[in-house]
Amino acid sequence: MNSDNVMVKIDSLSKSFGHIKALDNLNLDIKKGELLGIIGPNGAGKTTAIRIICCILQPNSGEVTVGGYSIHHDQIKIKSMIGYLPEEPNLYERFKARDLLKYFGELYGVPKNQIDHRIDELLELVGMSKRADDRINTFSKGLRQRIGIARALIHDPEIIIFDEPTMGLDPATSRTIRNFIKGLKGDKTVILCTHYMDEADLLCDRVAILNQGRIRDIGTPKSLKEQVHGDIILKVRVYEPQKIDTHRITVLDSVEAVSLEGNEFLISLHTREDISNIIDVFGSQAYSVNTKEPTLDDVFIQSV
Ligand SMILES: Nc1ncnc2c1ncn2[C@@H]1O[C@H](COP(=O)(O)OP(=O)(O)OP(=O)(O)O)[C@@H](O)[C@H]1O
Ligand SMILES: [Mg+2]
Repeated sequence: MNSDNVMVKIDSLSKSFGHIKALDNLNLDIKKGELLGIIGPNGAGKTTAIRIICCILQPNSGEVTVGGYSIHHDQIKIKSMIGYLPEEPNLYERFKARDLLKYFGELYGVPKNQIDHRIDELLELVGMSKRADDRINTFSKGLRQRIGIARALIHDPEIIIFDEPTMGLDPATSRTIRNFIKGLKGDKTVILCTHYMDEADLLCDRVAILNQGRIRDIGTPKSLKEQVHGDIILKVRVYEPQKIDTHRITVLDSVEAVSLEGNEFLISLHTREDISNIIDVFGSQAYSVNTKEPTLDDVFIQSV
């Protein structure tokens, strides 16, 4: 990868908490303008990596550079470049939404003559204009999350990091936030940690799978899904599985694997060309036939 194009460079990063190795020699490059997803099981090290990038936590060893600046030497510069939505944003409860944004805007050095306009613009973007003068402690989880996003963006950062932005939100609010993140694509460099595979698939240019503090796999959602055993899975439910001559299926060129779960055959295929031949083998034994394309869920389960 051309180094001019790299916005965040993580090199041999390790972090332990007592006997727990949260990050174990992690290496990862995030390109300028890219929307990179990080997925991985609970405790994989996602939040730890993010907190180190944001200069909130020090690693035990390794280096991270953000726009060429080092987390060891240029923390103030890096903080000014990043907008961060934590897993649980800690908002000042007694502040009104507008005052909170003003406070953080001033803290981040947004010019005084621009700050009110910027706040109005952000409140509009996150759909909170009508609640601007209500206190944070009167907001529901989803409304807080929207204000957390506005706070992360107040200084118009080049890099935005979202740690589980739609966790626990209703489908409509999740969609609003996803559309909002989608709108940042290309213009900003975005890192998105999520447990929602459909969210990663929908939004991300590339997805990194983290487990036990290391990258297990990385690629576009499409390329990751292509690695899953078989490109298409044909599911055939039958009355009497023992009556099926599976050899007639396994010899076909497009068939990668055949397995049986209960009375349902799962047939992994490279292409669709033999589907009708396969259905012929089942004949009148088949009472339900479905195809399923691999999802990032399948990638996740296969990788971790
Ligand atoms: N401040 C801390 N003190 C002790 N252990 C910690 C601390 N922060 C993280 N850990 C441990 O480090 C490991 C990685 O945690 P981390 O929060 O990075 O995981 P995660 O991938 O974000 O998980 P989740 O999906 O649950 O948010 C876990 O075993 C966690 O318990
Ligand atoms: Mg986390």
